[in-house]
Amino acid sequence: MTKLWGGRFQKSAEQWVDEFGASISFDQKLVMEDLEGSTAHVKMLAACNILSQEEGNQILSGLEKLKVKAQAGELEFSTANEDIHLNLEKFLIDEIGPVGGKLHTARSRNDQVATDMHLYLKNRVKEIIEGIQAFQSAIVEQAEAHVETVVPGYTHLQRAQPISFGHHLMTYFWMLQRDKERLSESMKRIDLSPLGAGAMSGTTFPIDREMSADLLGFSGVYQNSLDAVSDRDFILEFLSNASMLMMHMSRFAEEIILWSSEEFRFIELDDTFSTGSSIMPQKKNRDMAELIRGKTGRVYGNLFGLLTTLKGLPLAYNKDLQEDKEGMFDTVHTLMGSLPIFEGMVRTMTVRTDSMEKAVHSDFSNATELADYLAAKGLPFREAHEVTGKLVFMCIQRGYYLKDLPLAELQEASPLIEDDIYDVLLPKTAVARRNSLGGTGFDQVHYQLGLAKQLIG
Ligand code: ARG
Repeated sequence: MTKLWGGRFQKSAEQWVDEFGASISFDQKLVMEDLEGSTAHVKMLAACNILSQEEGNQILSGLEKLKVKAQAGELEFSTANEDIHLNLEKFLIDEIGPVGGKLHTARSRNDQVATDMHLYLKNRVKEIIEGIQAFQSAIVEQAEAHVETVVPGYTHLQRAQPISFGHHLMTYFWMLQRDKERLSESMKRIDLSPLGAGAMSGTTFPIDREMSADLLGFSGVYQNSLDAVSDRDFILEFLSNASMLMMHMSRFAEEIILWSSEEFRFIELDDTFSTGSSIMPQKKNRDMAELIRGKTGRVYGNLFGLLTTLKGLPLAYNKDLQEDKEGMFDTVHTLMGSLPIFEGMVRTMTVRTDSMEKAVHSDFSNATELADYLAAKGLPFREAHEVTGKLVFMCIQRGYYLKDLPLAELQEASPLIEDDIYDVLLPKTAVARRNSLGGTGFDQVHYQLGLAKQLIG
């Protein structure tokens, strides 16, 4: 089979070598973007009189036919034609004859592939942002239902201070909000057209790059032709933003796994998002959360893969750049899979308020309340800390909690303590009183939820 670039070759290529170099097995994902890019290019060529109107129309109608066939899954791609660009050019020539060969005037696969990648990522990033937003709304829904549900808050995975469960959940809302912002801000760099940079140096034809950029809906063009064909920063930036997003989901997944264990019993996942064990009949596994935590690894891997591919690459295009695709596709696929699963998991989980209530009454997470109580009565906080620490130690030895200590013993430790202390020590009071801006106080959590709802519209 003759190659579209076969002119200067004496021998035909061997199939196994072709297979090694081909990207069609994966870049066929770019079929619609490639056809869209070609359509804009031809329109521009005709408008600039580089092609006649007649030629332009013939090519455009050929491209339309290919779009229909592509949507119907009727295009049979071949490794012999290496990649999506050459496959489509071959189909076009088969469809409309030699005039199809004029499509590639004033263009190279180097600016063509970069254009496809920009178009692809632009659309996917929009979808990912929508996926994040839907996930955020599930978080808000659960948080709203559990503003007044009190749980132990942890530091060092040890019970620290009682908090509102809604407040805890909302932490993930804000992480996701930053992820969304980062993705939207990166759009500025994704939304640029490399088309018309040619192989690397521009072209002798009187093209109009701004026109093709406009037709493709890009908000600007690359100002340097070498940069246009060799830049993959926009993909790296996406992979890095995706890594952070996965890291956030992985942290959340870890908590979901802990909370739904017998040891915590804070939540129960819906059966839809759980699996059984093939041997242990009692098991209900959190496979979806574990899988999302696990998939974080491949997304980081994709980021490091591309960083390493780009390191030390001389300008401008090198075939190494073909390696930019699989990791990007895989990352998009992983995010588009993980986001709705996580959203569903959160929306349908049952919060076991009974176990949370029990947990929060059987710990020392209210010790700060006692120290603060003394400090508010004028005792230097350091001394208040010492007094409270001694009382905690006394309780541990006797198997009590602070609320179980009789007033007389409390007063022996400090005469500043009065019988209003028992209310102060209640977990719910402790939470309600943490009303500093951004704190876990119920009023603050309601305020935070109001802001959050405005952000997701
Ligand atoms: N399949 C190639 C890629 O993905 C397209 C660009 C090929 N350009 C070239 N000069 N070989 O990067």
